[in-house]
Amino acid sequence: MDKKYVAPPYRIKMVEPIKMTTKNERIELLKNAGYNPFSLRSEDVYIDLLTDSGTGAMSHFQWAALMMGDEAYAGSRSFYKFEKVVKDITGYDYVIPAHQGRGAEQVALPQLVNKEGMFFISNMHFDTTRAHVELAGARALDCVIKECFDTENYHPFKGNFDLIELDHIINAKGKENIAGIIFTITNNSAGGQPVSMENLREVKKIADKYGITTLIDGARYAENAYFVKQREKGYENKTIKEIAREVFDLADIFLMSSKKDGLSNIGGLIAIKNDTDFYNKCRTYIVPMEGFPTYGGLTGRDMEALSVGLLEALEEDYLEHRLDQVRYLGDKLRDAGVPIQYPTGGHAVFVDCKKFAPHIPYYEFPAQSVSNAVYLEAGVRPVEIGSFLLGRDPDTGKNLESPLELMRLTIPRRTYTYKHLDVVAEAVIEVYKNRKSLVGLGFDYEPPVLRHFTARLIPLTK
Ligand code: F0G
Repeated sequence: MDKKYVAPPYRIKMVEPIKMTTKNERIELLKNAGYNPFSLRSEDVYIDLLTDSGTGAMSHFQWAALMMGDEAYAGSRSFYKFEKVVKDITGYDYVIPAHQGRGAEQVALPQLVNKEGMFFISNMHFDTTRAHVELAGARALDCVIKECFDTENYHPFKGNFDLIELDHIINAKGKENIAGIIFTITNNSAGGQPVSMENLREVKKIADKYGITTLIDGARYAENAYFVKQREKGYENKTIKEIAREVFDLADIFLMSSKKDGLSNIGGLIAIKNDTDFYNKCRTYIVPMEGFPTYGGLTGRDMEALSVGLLEALEEDYLEHRLDQVRYLGDKLRDAGVPIQYPTGGHAVFVDCKKFAPHIPYYEFPAQSVSNAVYLEAGVRPVEIGSFLLGRDPDTGKNLESPLELMRLTIPRRTYTYKHLDVVAEAVIEVYKNRKSLVGLGFDYEPPVLRHFTARLIPLTK
């Protein structure tokens, strides 16, 4: 790319006011939220970088499409439009909508678990995927390359599978006990890091050798395809859609939270290559879990917005700008010495809090402490991706230590300007300057599953 930074390929037609609070107000608000930014009201947040999930801005084409929603319970016209778009992108035979990614997971994953003691293997499971694997009675094993945990040094595809480890796990657990191999693209939990085509091809070869089903967890598959185009030899001249199709050809099942690369506020889907039996199982199960197979928990207008958004997310000028915003924020932080996962990935800047606050041990949640400080500094809401999120071992109940303690500054799609990102950078840099004063956190209330969403914490003042 010869341009350093790129202005947004859109202009703003509608605005949503946001307001800054005072520091004293934020001290009180955070205390009331149990030192867990998930419990803050969004009105009390100035710049919300909690997630890029369902928080993006829709285009005027999408808003117009909403009016075309067919709200029929069965056989909605909007479903057939949505199905056609998904089939066209994936090349798969079957499409089932779901209300969001975890809806797709709760329907599809249990169908692959047919006995005790089974495992899913992924480069890195996202937390809801892990939860649904465990709820289905299986266990989730990660096997990402070790470079992923070295946040300082450049590697173009830190989301890649460790192929030797993958083969080793399959042999150690027995191929008949592997329920599926999940390609998480991009690898959200370690920095929105992409997976190369070459790596996915090798994973597919291993899967074929042992006769194992392959799944894509493709919430951000379009961003992954863009990185392949930028960083992998031989893909410079392919379109994003062609690259994405090559990935779909390597898998049997596609699960998607379309709140990300569907550019919509809600939605998910299951697409199945050609396994009629698996499709029938999912179609049966979707009815009690999500809804009739032609709406799966979505309104007709949601499916209309998605039909447009899924295609817009594959447009190159959109992707170029999106990834440029992430890089812009990452560069600002890195230039100021803040440790981040480098290079930046697709949807967020991940700050390495093991390095940021090395005096706070993993069981006192360093990244949560940094996130809270960033909120106090400027009303910016980040999210912790570390030992607080990881939770406890389901078998022993022990606090797990995450290999990375990350604060994610997640950038919603088409929502904030570069100036907002300047404010974020200034706040994080200010906290970094005062990092020695940060303290760890203990539990006031800890829920039994997915604790990070609703836990209440207390600062451990020395
Ligand atoms: N898979 C990945 C890779 C995800 O990032 C998410 C959600 C899901 C599955 C589940 O999808 O939320 O629609 O049910 N990630 C959001 C995030 C929540 O903030 O990263 P969902």
